[in-house]
Amino acid sequence: MNRLPNSLHALDVASLVHPQSNLRKHLEQGPTIFSKGKGIFIYDEDGREYLEAAAGLWCASLGFGVERLAKVAYDQMCKVGYYHIYRSSSNETAIELAAKLLELAPVPMSKVFFQCSGSEANDTAVKIVWYYWHAHGKPEKRKIIGRKMGYHGSTCAAASISGKPDMHQESGLPFDAFRHTEFPNYYRNQLPGESEEAFSARMAQALEDLIIAEGPETVAAFWAEPVMGAGGAVLPPKGYFEKMQAVLQKYDILFVADEVICGFGRTGNLWGSQTYNLKPDMISCAKALSAGLQPISALLLNERVFEALMIESDKVGHFAHGYTYAGHPVTTAVALETLKIYDEMDIVGHVRAVEKPFLAELKALESHPLIGEFRGIGLIGALEVVNDKATREMFPADAGVMDILGRNAKKHGLILRLVGNRIAFSPPLIISEAEVREMVRRLRNALDDTWSAVRAN
Ligand SMILES: Cc1ncc(COP(=O)(O)O)c(C=O)c1O
Repeated sequence: MNRLPNSLHALDVASLVHPQSNLRKHLEQGPTIFSKGKGIFIYDEDGREYLEAAAGLWCASLGFGVERLAKVAYDQMCKVGYYHIYRSSSNETAIELAAKLLELAPVPMSKVFFQCSGSEANDTAVKIVWYYWHAHGKPEKRKIIGRKMGYHGSTCAAASISGKPDMHQESGLPFDAFRHTEFPNYYRNQLPGESEEAFSARMAQALEDLIIAEGPETVAAFWAEPVMGAGGAVLPPKGYFEKMQAVLQKYDILFVADEVICGFGRTGNLWGSQTYNLKPDMISCAKALSAGLQPISALLLNERVFEALMIESDKVGHFAHGYTYAGHPVTTAVALETLKIYDEMDIVGHVRAVEKPFLAELKALESHPLIGEFRGIGLIGALEVVNDKATREMFPADAGVMDILGRNAKKHGLILRLVGNRIAFSPPLIISEAEVREMVRRLRNALDDTWSAVRAN
């Protein structure tokens, strides 16, 4: 489509830096501008409709426009548009939201700390881990173990916990204290004849080996997403977390569950920690906390962590940490109302009902020549795209097959989240059975067109 040089496209290219985008290609190709959202659909400026199979960035649990939340935000802005919660100031909605989160927490939690993003929640948790071991007279216990292909955000500490190589390249990251254990992708990393349980045992052994090599007295905490999101919607293999948590307990290592994606129904329970029986000391959450409609995250701390924090606060004179917009009256009001909506509509019940067709329809795509495997739970999962089903060989990156697939999906009115050779799904939680079938219909068309292009080459 021809655009005027002074159009929004030209203005975008002239003025905006886009995260996680190829900046040179963007200068050449320009943006897709999304102007309207309704339910699980998003519309570009020409009115073209797209079914959003990833809820934006795993966010828009209630879809792309929720009038009830807009009204709450408006009312709250009129009442008190901004105030902070520093130096013992507070506001009604921050208090109520913190109390509600403690009531909903999957394991006993003691306090809630607010920020504006998942990255900040994890960043805060890193600092709190270090405080914890200082308070316990073990300041040398400082190393943080994340996982290869794990994702915990973009601040320097959160990117350091993350195990995605592109997040470290050219930046000197990760910081010194950060280590990464194995990527538990059973499909891709299993050994010949290795059962899923045996694979999990090998993953736990790798964690233990790393801890011993580093010196257990230097290892402070382990970070994990219940289902790995940006690593490609990778589910933990059978028995994985049970075995990993046993290692953490053995060496007295704190566990932080990153529920930024999994929290609030995504896996068919309110928390991924419930789905996989996690017993974390801290939980970071965001995204669906406000249905993605306001930038807010929360960090939940258990009692032993809070007590340590208090000891350090006594020493310093205060908890020397915070964000201007933490506990913001508007973000907390919207999050509080979001949790009310989840309760009224029984979000977990809805996810469990739609989970069946979601999993079955995507599993059926394993018969497609391009698909090696599907795994999912609740309303999250991924398809592996392969060049050879028997050997699981991937297409070479420079063949551009995933780019072709992404373009074909858009042509058929579908937005996909592509991670390497994986198609990650996390549609809005409000998706209906009929919409799941429509998503898969559009996907099948995109796969067929991509298969034709592959064969033509
Ligand atoms: C598991 C996980 N943790 C943390 C983050 C970072 O959140 P944010 O982008 O809000 O900083 C993300 C973002 O996708 C995430 O998926």
